Amino acid sequence: MPGIVLIGAQWGDEGKGKATDLIGTHVNYVARFNGGNNAGHSVVVGNESYALHLLPSGIISPTVIPVIGNGVVVDPEVLFQEIDGLESRGVDCSRLLVSEAAHVIAPYHRTLDKVTERFLGKHKIGTTGRGIGPAYADKINRVGIRVHDLFNADHLHDKVEASLHQKNQMLVKLYNRRPIDVDQTTDELLKLGERLKPYVANTGLILNKALDEGKTVLFEGAQATMLDVDHGTYPFVTSSNPTAGGACTGTGVGPTKISRVIGVSKAYVTRVGEGPFPTELFDESGEWLRQQGHEFGVTTGRPRRCGWFDAVVNRYASQVNGLTDLVLTKLDVLTGLKEIPICVAYDVDGERYDDMPTDQAAFAAAKPIYETMPGWDEDISAVHAFEDLPATCQAYVKRLEELSNCRISAIGTGPQRDHIISVHSLID
Ligand code: IMP
Repeated sequence: MPGIVLIGAQWGDEGKGKATDLIGTHVNYVARFNGGNNAGHSVVVGNESYALHLLPSGIISPTVIPVIGNGVVVDPEVLFQEIDGLESRGVDCSRLLVSEAAHVIAPYHRTLDKVTERFLGKHKIGTTGRGIGPAYADKINRVGIRVHDLFNADHLHDKVEASLHQKNQMLVKLYNRRPIDVDQTTDELLKLGERLKPYVANTGLILNKALDEGKTVLFEGAQATMLDVDHGTYPFVTSSNPTAGGACTGTGVGPTKISRVIGVSKAYVTRVGEGPFPTELFDESGEWLRQQGHEFGVTTGRPRRCGWFDAVVNRYASQVNGLTDLVLTKLDVLTGLKEIPICVAYDVDGERYDDMPTDQAAFAAAKPIYETMPGWDEDISAVHAFEDLPATCQAYVKRLEELSNCRISAIGTGPQRDHIISVHSLID
């Protein structure tokens, strides 16, 4: 009954694909449980590289059943573009299952995401502009459109009308935009529904049965712990729960079916969008990390903000997610540094915080307290055993492990799939 949850332990873009590769062939189902096409990850198979935003990474492996769970917000237009792109390259997507209870991102959600960000001005969140927040807001406000609503014209018309009633007032009176037509929107959604129908299923039932039969399900988190709407750096967060608990609510599987929670962290930290980031570097070290680590967004192309490893964030991620394992990625990016600072605690107005402050004003004021470790110059990409890493590199990893309150089970040492050191198995 192995239910394995995989989540980002920082602010996203940790390189979760490295961990997926390690678990890869043992998995029967890969289920996304949160977010939508705000995510971006690349899957490399042989010489081919696939950029995925909404589809689970399992779509590329013919033996895996990819599932989009109820907690995901689905933009059908984007889904079809991704499917068409993959199928034109010979990837069969017919195994895909989409939850009938997942919420739909309608064109008006994308419009609202952009106009509200503009309206927020200096208070903007720096969203990906994909309509994620407005779709989740509708879900919570109980005016969302769910996938199964797309198959009943009258019912859908009612729902779109209810959803657009207030939005049109806002668009016209507050944002000075044209109202959105209910009939036209309903027709567009019905057409999308027709194409979506063959993929739609009761995914909660399917996943539970699979787990009961002893199959392995990988619950693939998008975004990351610090972007969680409850546990992240609110309000500079996404609108879903990328933490481990989200795997249950976002798929309909109970917590007793989860046996492993794997967090992924970079050996340093990056963030995109706005919001506090205590170890952010504004000097040439930050630029160096960005260039060495190719830190530019897969979804938006935005340069990522870069900073030193923050152990307070990692300890917090271990706690919030109940991590059993940590996968440390991009260790090779630090090669060549004479010294490597690690943030071990924060100073907030003269008070030391070893744990994450819950008050966001305190977090925004947090100054990192650094401990410095010696660096290494050797190329580590060909190393496959922890003991073969340079001694200073081993010491750096050991210190991160100690400070993170979680064992490091795998280490990414370069961009290729085989640039990895496995310390503890992620599957048994
Ligand atoms: P939204 O998810 O588009 O609403 O954006 C909210 C915040 O989450 C912004 O700061 C985005 O940059 C950030 N964000 C959303 N998705 C990702 C991701 O996959 N990786 C990193 N940051 C993300």
